[in-house]
Amino acid sequence: MYNSKIIGLGKYLPDNVVTNDDLSKLMDTTDEWIQERTGIKERRWIEKGSEDSSAVMGAKAARIAIERAGLTKDDIDFIVFATMTPDYYFPGCGVQIQDVLDMGTIGAIDIRNQCSGFVYAISVADQFIKTGMYKNILVIGAEYHSNGLDKSTRGRGVTVIFGDGAGAAVLTREEDNTKGILSTHLHSQGKHADKLIVTSPSIKHWIPEILASKKEDISYFPYMDGTFVFKNAVVRFSEVITEGLIKNNLSKDDIDLFIPHQANLRISQFVQQRFGLSDDQVFNNITKYGNTTAASIIIALTEAWEQGKVKDGDTVVLAAFGSGFTWGSVIIKW
Ligand code: ACO
Repeated sequence: MYNSKIIGLGKYLPDNVVTNDDLSKLMDTTDEWIQERTGIKERRWIEKGSEDSSAVMGAKAARIAIERAGLTKDDIDFIVFATMTPDYYFPGCGVQIQDVLDMGTIGAIDIRNQCSGFVYAISVADQFIKTGMYKNILVIGAEYHSNGLDKSTRGRGVTVIFGDGAGAAVLTREEDNTKGILSTHLHSQGKHADKLIVTSPSIKHWIPEILASKKEDISYFPYMDGTFVFKNAVVRFSEVITEGLIKNNLSKDDIDLFIPHQANLRISQFVQQRFGLSDDQVFNNITKYGNTTAASIIIALTEAWEQGKVKDGDTVVLAAFGSGFTWGSVIIKW
């Protein structure tokens, strides 16, 4: 069995910055409320008329990651694409990447695990590399939230937290079992699916309903029981990080860098306190980008790496919690 390791990282954020004050012109909200509850100051939303989408942004991030890995598109054996906002109901974004990047006929899958999407995606890629089936895998997380949000006061509890963006990582085979991705830990609890959900469109509520005007139907917009999700998030984050540390005989003191899914700065701060981590040990960028769901960890990891905060030999912990509920962690020896 091999290990896998990350050798290239890339990110792409749309240029259009939407501040909290911009949102207060669309709905009854304030910069003060949003910052106090979430830490978010601004987010990126794709501008109307832009060519960007989850697949397009994912391709842009992927090109950077492949180049930084010192590889070419022809070296990639497989694509894993995590998103909850695919360009089409089907096919998924993975095959769009395969086409746009002209990658022969390699396999591509989509992962539909919301905020835990990138953690699940990296775990899937890791298993393929461990068994020796593939050597180099492109893993992408990308979200185009802004087009599907309720921008009236009715949707304010959800809409203010989400942003658009994409990140990508190239994973390759590592023969030294003490390096690279040491372990991944995945969980779910479907009984809470209705606490954070979009119920339409779906195969149950499909084209005829979409074609009819449904502006008054809130089922077309994300619903979230925010307090319930918050309480579960802080518990599950802590559990799944501890699970990863125990599996690798590590303690919280061994963590050089913790990159939580960027759902809410208050959640990250709670987990930071719970593990007694210093500000230097935790990387957050939610203030700038909001919650980009499957893209958030990979955008944050890329940004941390670009700032020189990820060094050889570091123990890096990634953890996420989101709709499903699903949650997971990744323990990496960089
Ligand atoms: N501006 C002003 N007021 C608002 C806004 C807003 N944007 N949104 C809600 N309010 C009001 C509500 O109407 C409510 O008013 P009321 O008391 O008069 O009824 C009050 O503020 C409190 O609302 P809550 O929803 O209870 O606010 P809360 O303190 O829980 O914060 C938040 C909301 C930030 C969303 C928080 O619950 C949270 O972060 N939850 C977890 C998010 C998360 O981790 N999601 C998982 C990942 S996402 C994914 O997987 C897709």
